[in-house]
Amino acid sequence: MEIPVNGETKVYGIIGYPVKHSKSPQFQTAAFLSLKINGIYLPFEVKPEDIEDAVKGIKALSIKGINVTVPHKEEVIKYLDEVSQEVKYIGACNTIKNTDGYLIGYNTDAYGFIEGLKEILPEPHKKSFLIIGAGGASRAVLYGLINEGVQNIIVANRTVEKVYQIIEDFKTLNRFVDRIIQPVSLDQIEKKIDNVDIIVNTTSVGLKDEDLPLFDYSKIKKDHIVIDIIYKKTKLLQAAEKKGCLYQDGLPMLLYQGTKAFEIWTGQKAPVEVMREVLEKK
Ligand code: ATR
Repeated sequence: MEIPVNGETKVYGIIGYPVKHSKSPQFQTAAFLSLKINGIYLPFEVKPEDIEDAVKGIKALSIKGINVTVPHKEEVIKYLDEVSQEVKYIGACNTIKNTDGYLIGYNTDAYGFIEGLKEILPEPHKKSFLIIGAGGASRAVLYGLINEGVQNIIVANRTVEKVYQIIEDFKTLNRFVDRIIQPVSLDQIEKKIDNVDIIVNTTSVGLKDEDLPLFDYSKIKKDHIVIDIIYKKTKLLQAAEKKGCLYQDGLPMLLYQGTKAFEIWTGQKAPVEVMREVLEKK
């Protein structure tokens, strides 16, 4: 039996609470094995009150790289030595690289969303979008779309003020952001839906089967492309499928945020297809 760890194995992992449902340990470790990198990727369950100690632990234990998931993505930022431009705009960090005890925070969710999107829509900048939600995931999606040059984005949220806050925060990213993003409440979606090409759910609504729909899904038309960043066939996606729409779940975004993290940590091109295969098998 060949044992894939020894005294020189580099340790990577994910911190979250809970973390046991994470797919990352399997697909990241598969990437290390595939490229014959002596590395392993483990789940670390970290309670909210322990996040500062956990970050100190990354340094103390010389853990080389960490992914950060719910509920730590925002809180972790203040314990890092440096953060990327993405993290500053998005306000959330999902990837940490440890270089000799110096921790830099990155956000690979925006990249993950755009790479996934391009699998079904190679030229997104020509299209108009409806983004539902205005939390951290929405900020990552919007950051990615604005950097791609998308000009028309309706952002619908239960709390509309949060969309205005995003516009304010993104003004230095693109000075025309107040013309690009149009804030609306959830009850306006049905009125606006015919003006957009792509519908994206970035909220957690749909994760549980009993969740009420965000709007009347029968208003979706065949020509819409529908994306849910939740990693399952939600009611929204079921409605899109029924209409004959092109649609995508959260798998591609999960995959590409992971390939980007892998590349940040190792400096090597990630074995995308190996990682995809592991994710799709589950
Ligand atoms: P994430 O980091 O996953 O984006 P978040 O920052 O907590 O998580 O954001 C959650 C998003 O889902 C928000 O847009 C939230 O709406 P509010 O800003 O009004 O809170 C949205 N959301 C969560 N539960 C919802 C619900 N039951 N109905 C509508 N929107 C909901």
